[in-house]
Amino acid sequence: MPAPVRSAAQWADFGRDHVSHGLGRLRDHVIVKGEGLDLHTADGKKLLDFTAGIGVTNLGHCHPAVSQAAAAQVNTLVHLQCSIGFHAPYLQLIDRLLPVMPHQSLDQFFFWNSGSEAVEAAVKVARKATGRQNIIVFQGAYHGRTMGSGAMTRSKPIYTQGTGPLMPGVFASAYPYWHGLGVSPSTSEEELVRLAKHQLDLVLRQQTSPTDVAAIFIEPVQGEGGYVPCPPAFLHYLREVCDKHGIKLVIDEVQTGFFRTGKYFAIDHITPSFRPDIMVFAKGVANGFPISGIVANKETMDTLDVGSMGGTYAGNAVACAAGVAAQDVYASGEIEANVAARSEQLYATLNKLATSSKTKHLIADVRGLGLMSAIEFRNPADSLTQEGLPEGTSIPKSIGKRVQEHCLDNDLLVLTTSCFDTIRFIPALVCTEEQMTRAMGIFTEAVEKVALEG
Ligand SMILES: Cc1ncc(COP(=O)(O)O)c(C=O)c1O
Repeated sequence: MPAPVRSAAQWADFGRDHVSHGLGRLRDHVIVKGEGLDLHTADGKKLLDFTAGIGVTNLGHCHPAVSQAAAAQVNTLVHLQCSIGFHAPYLQLIDRLLPVMPHQSLDQFFFWNSGSEAVEAAVKVARKATGRQNIIVFQGAYHGRTMGSGAMTRSKPIYTQGTGPLMPGVFASAYPYWHGLGVSPSTSEEELVRLAKHQLDLVLRQQTSPTDVAAIFIEPVQGEGGYVPCPPAFLHYLREVCDKHGIKLVIDEVQTGFFRTGKYFAIDHITPSFRPDIMVFAKGVANGFPISGIVANKETMDTLDVGSMGGTYAGNAVACAAGVAAQDVYASGEIEANVAARSEQLYATLNKLATSSKTKHLIADVRGLGLMSAIEFRNPADSLTQEGLPEGTSIPKSIGKRVQEHCLDNDLLVLTTSCFDTIRFIPALVCTEEQMTRAMGIFTEAVEKVALEG
C-alpha cells in the first residue's frame, strides 16, 4: 500500500494526534532536511537552528564527513552486539578519544546509547568499585529522566513528578551559584565557593556518612540548571573530599563535551589536567548518531565483573564510525578557533544588551562558556534578580518566554533553560559570522520589543 500523501499541516495534525502528549516541542514544525545550522520544514520554511538538537550536532546538521563515514559503515557492518566481539569502529573511536582525555588515567571505556544510560552506568561502576550506595549531586543538576538518572536530576520537578519512587540514596548539595545559595548575583566567586563547600560539608555531616557515599556527580557547566560554569576551586575541593573519603568523582560532560565550551571538554577549560575517576559523555561525540560513553581509570573499572555491563545496541558500529569521523574534524583545530570567534561575537551582543539604556533594566545576568552561553532576565517575582535596578523601575513579566516567541516567529530556534527566566545559546560550533550576526539581530530586536512593550 503506498504511503498516504499529506500536506505539511496534515502531518503536523497527525503528529499532534499520535505522538505522546508527554513530549514537549518548541513548535509543531515538520522538519524534512538539516544542513549546517539550517533546518528546512515540510512547508518550505528555512529555520536558523540555535539549539543544535540540544547541543548534539556540534558540527552542524549532516556534516559531510560524518554522514559519509556513517553511510560507508551502513554498507559494511551495521550491528555487532558488544558481547559477541570487538568491531573496528568501536576500537578506532577509543583510539581517537584516548589522547584527548582530560587526564591520562582515564583509559578504560565502554559505549552506551544515551546520556542517561551512561549516567546510570557510572552509578553502577561507582557502587561496584566502592561497595557503597549513596550518590551526591548538586542542586540544579540535570543527569537525565530515567528512574536512576531522574533521581539525580534537580533542575525542575517536571521531569519526574508523579512517577516516583525513583532510585533511592541520592542527596543534593548546593552548586556554587548565586541563585542556588540565595545570595546576590554580584557575590564573588570565592564567596560562592566558600558557601557551597560549607553546604557539602553539612550534607556529609548531617545527611549521609561519607563512608556510605559511592560517588559525587557534577556537571562542569550546569546545563538545565542555567548554563552555570563551576569555579575551579570548587572542583578541586570535590577532588580533595573524594580522595579523603574514598568517593568516586564523576564528571558529567554529556552536554559540555566536544568543544561546546571551547575546549575538548569543559574541565579542560575550567581546570586543565583535572583528574576525575569517571567521566560520562554523549551528544557531540558522534554529531547526532545515538551513542554515549563512560571512561574511568583502570583501578575503578577493573572492579566490574565480566559480563555485568552490556546492551543490545551499545556502541553501535554506524554510530562509532560517525564518532571517528567527528573526532577527525574536531582534531583539525578549526572548530576550537571558530568557537572562540563566534562566542566573542555572541558575548558582544549579550553584554551590549546588558549595558544599553534601552534594555539593561530587563537583564539580570550573562554567563556561560564558549557556545554554551545564556542570558537571564529579571523576574518581578524574584528579588535576587533585581540588584542594581533603580527603585520604582517596573519589570515586565515572562521576558524570556516573550523574547523566545519573537525569535521563533522570526525563524530563529532558541531554547530557554532552568527554572529561572533564561535563554540559552547553543548553536552548532560551525556557525558562521553571518549566521551569528543574523541570530543576534533577531534576538536584539526581540529584547528591544519587550522593553518597548513593557
Ligand atoms: C549533563 C547531562 N547529563 C545527562 C543528560 C541525559 O542525556 P540523554 O538525554 O541522552 O539521556 C543530559 C541531556 O541533556 C545532560 O545535559
